[in-house]
Amino acid sequence: MSARPLALITGASGGIGLEFARLLAADGYDCVLVARSRERLESIAADIREKSGVAVTCIAADLTLDESIAQITAAIPHCDLLVNNAGFANNGPYAELPESDIADEIRLDVLALARLTRHYLPGMLAARSGGVINVASTAAFLPGPLMATYYASKAFVLSLSEALWEEVRGNGVTVSCLCPGATKTAFFARANMEGTRLLSMQPLADASAVARAGYEGWKRGKRVVVPGAMNAALAFSPKITPRSLLLRISRRLVAR
Ligand SMILES: NC(=O)c1ccc[n+]([C@@H]2O[C@H](COP(=O)([O-])OP(=O)(O)OC[C@H]3O[C@@H](n4cnc5c(N)ncnc54)[C@H](OP(=O)(O)O)[C@@H]3O)[C@@H](O)[C@H]2O)c1
Repeated sequence: MSARPLALITGASGGIGLEFARLLAADGYDCVLVARSRERLESIAADIREKSGVAVTCIAADLTLDESIAQITAAIPHCDLLVNNAGFANNGPYAELPESDIADEIRLDVLALARLTRHYLPGMLAARSGGVINVASTAAFLPGPLMATYYASKAFVLSLSEALWEEVRGNGVTVSCLCPGATKTAFFARANMEGTRLLSMQPLADASAVARAGYEGWKRGKRVVVPGAMNAALAFSPKITPRSLLLRISRRLVAR
């Protein structure tokens, strides 16, 4: 058994999760990488092993499935740092989206994150060390017409994370919530969001800078990390903007 701490990263086959994996391995964590694309995970793992010399385990699993949570927690009973990063969004009028797509979005963005956190937190508390980084979004701070489930899911992630930050405070464990703004990954293509105003509003953030901000913030014990001044302003604006105006702006940003 390795003396290094162990990080479990969901959604590590690309984007922000991949950057978390590279960063944590470079900082001396053994890593467990979770996503659906087995071949991609294996090739990332080989690259990380070669560059960082840490142990890397891959678990190819679909986190929308109940049995995947059982499979992961049976294989990896304890981890020191859980990065709940896997997520996706549907874009479109709620009444027109397939019910199964909405259910999958909630299963991945909300339920898998909540269940993995529940599984790993007691071991961290017993060890009085480690913690969780939950990846939400600036979408967590406001409702999102045309992406209603995604914004609501991220609001759940933010609320859960802040509550847990307080519950575990003083026990050597930190639960942080990372709230990125628009970041250059496969996310927007997958969400069918290319060409929306949200993407032309500002240059997309670099995924490695976003992961680094999340990790550094977590190490400093921060409750919520919003990388970038513009995103911080965006996260604050719902507090001072009339709700009806906020909803109209929010809708325009993601309308196709
Ligand atoms: N990009 C942005 O602008 C942005 C902004 C704010 C927040 N975020 C959040 O950041 C997180 C990472 O997103 P990203 O931008 O890096 O997007 P991405 O490049 O699309 O990466 C998503 C990751 O999640 C995995 N994944 C998707 N569905 C899965 C499933 N059913 N089971 C297991 N893994 C699954 C994907 O791997 P497989 O396809 O191989 O399963 C991939 O590794 C998400 O929670 C997203 O909501 C992104």
